[in-house]
Amino acid sequence: MCGIFGYVGERDVVEVLVAGLKRLQYRGYDSCGIAVLDGNELAIVKEAGRIERLEQVLSRYTFQAKVGIAHTRWATHGKPTPTNAHPHIDCHGTVSIVHNGVIDNFLNLRESLLNRGHILRSETDTEVIAHLIEEELSKISHEGEKAFVFLKAVMKAVSQLKGSYAIACLWEGAPGVIVSARQGSPLLIGVGNNEACIGSDLNAVLPITKQVILLNDGELALVTQTKVWVFDIEGKEKKVAVQRIEWEVTEEDRAGFPTFMLKEIYEQPERIRKIIALRCQGANPPIFEELDMPPSQLIGFRRIIVQAAGTSWHSGLYGKYLFERYLRIPTDAEIASEFRYREPVLEQDTLVIAISQSGETADTLAGIRQARSRFVPVLSLCNVPGSTMTRESDAVIYLHAGPEIGVASTKAYTAQLAHLFLLTLHLARLKWLLSQDNINQLLDQFNQLPEKMEKILDEQESIVRECAKTFLDSRYFLYLARGINYPTALEGALKLKEVSYIHASGYPAGEFKHGPIALVDKDTPVVCIAPVDSVYEKTLANIEEVKARGGRLIVVTTEGNRDFDEMAEFIFTIPQIHEDLTPLLTVIPLQLLAHHVAAMKGLDVDKPRNLAKSVTVE
Ligand code: F6R
Repeated sequence: MCGIFGYVGERDVVEVLVAGLKRLQYRGYDSCGIAVLDGNELAIVKEAGRIERLEQVLSRYTFQAKVGIAHTRWATHGKPTPTNAHPHIDCHGTVSIVHNGVIDNFLNLRESLLNRGHILRSETDTEVIAHLIEEELSKISHEGEKAFVFLKAVMKAVSQLKGSYAIACLWEGAPGVIVSARQGSPLLIGVGNNEACIGSDLNAVLPITKQVILLNDGELALVTQTKVWVFDIEGKEKKVAVQRIEWEVTEEDRAGFPTFMLKEIYEQPERIRKIIALRCQGANPPIFEELDMPPSQLIGFRRIIVQAAGTSWHSGLYGKYLFERYLRIPTDAEIASEFRYREPVLEQDTLVIAISQSGETADTLAGIRQARSRFVPVLSLCNVPGSTMTRESDAVIYLHAGPEIGVASTKAYTAQLAHLFLLTLHLARLKWLLSQDNINQLLDQFNQLPEKMEKILDEQESIVRECAKTFLDSRYFLYLARGINYPTALEGALKLKEVSYIHASGYPAGEFKHGPIALVDKDTPVVCIAPVDSVYEKTLANIEEVKARGGRLIVVTTEGNRDFDEMAEFIFTIPQIHEDLTPLLTVIPLQLLAHHVAAMKGLDVDKPRNLAKSVTVE
């Protein structure tokens, strides 16, 4: 989705803005642009396509600027053209704005602006905001400090907006000032030493400073080189809360890997090692220092609803299997966009768990708000510190996956599974449902994950590559599994679809014969996830059914299992591990398969078409 960055200070503004844009590009974008105040004059450069193209155009100019704003756009209103790219300006080109979000009443606003003689150049909803600011500037007194005149105009303009926005604006009348506002889309301000920046994302801000102000909905900020003021929408000044955020900013380079996705797949053993070091010191039950919910409350829940989107929903399904098995608590795993509109039954003894890599997904956030408005507590499992979900939940567990740049989620998924497993042990211990011995045995298995992940990456990559080459031109894939690996089937199919654009569906293996089996013919690749576990015999029988119909079998199974030697075209093996931890291993060859198919097709693996890393609109 769109990204915002802005800077005021002594550095080379254009250089800083372009670097900021590059740190935002992983979110997905189709055009980009910057606006700087060169002395008292606004200069705008914007392009459709990649940041490198913008950089080329920028190399023709020399600006003497101390302040600027920048944007990566993921088109919603109007095609990705230079005209629709941000920043947008008012009639006279003195106000400039970048915007994330969607203005719901923009058609009405646009029509009335046109009736009042404004000339609008783009098809975007954003442009109306620049014109509203222009109108407000013409209505109010320009007495006093220009920065506050500008702030007042922006305040009056945004009070006319319905929908979601994070904005940053410049005005020729107030050089050295950025005015920002937030309603429903993330925005943070970095407060450096004699410099400041704003961004929609920690990745953009933290390379400048770790001292951050997290704006809340309904707040505006006036940002200058030396001071930041925060106001509510009525113009009342608020206390500025600066906090230090520790979060590793990802290096822009791919550490020798051809894509971020592959780098992140290979980072998984290290990430789990980090989680072990943090959560499982010695043989104790897992430690969740940040979990701010008293044990007496944690053990009292009689129902759990996990709500999340996409890959995070798949990990939620894994959570359902664990919570029901170990805690005996009825659990639903809900797709957030359905949960929020379904009028769910929410009772006081229910715990809602939200899972999210970004912490900004609009649907999941709406589910959190819905639960809390009905006084149902929310625990979020989230990767990004300071994100909106972490601030709006009753309690948080951080995933420690590190920044994930590839649009297709990989290491955040396994970090989610790992934390759901550890949370289950934590709750089981609190409820006295597992003995210390049981916990120790399970933790012992958990501690073996990094080594076993590494073994898969070392030993299976070449066979996965061979498999990818074989099925490169397939029109669709099917993924089957039972039990705790059913979410793995869904996740494997989603990964392939996202990056290779090959249709893929995941099914519970036992459900397959109730319809989808009609899809199987002699050309159909069917990926069967069949570790030797408690449902193995049943899965095997389902796989036989597929084979009997001529499907081409790709099987993920446990090392040493010879059942598929004659049956399958490709076999990916995982080392022996406790059944409930197999999803952290079986998914790895499937991530590699999706990656390799897409890469062999020459596709942009890290930025698949139409997708965005952080889905901040409904
Ligand atoms: C898939 C993927 C998406 C996200 C989904 C939710 O690879 O990345 O399906 O999982 O958009 O995003 P978060 O986890 O940020 O809430």
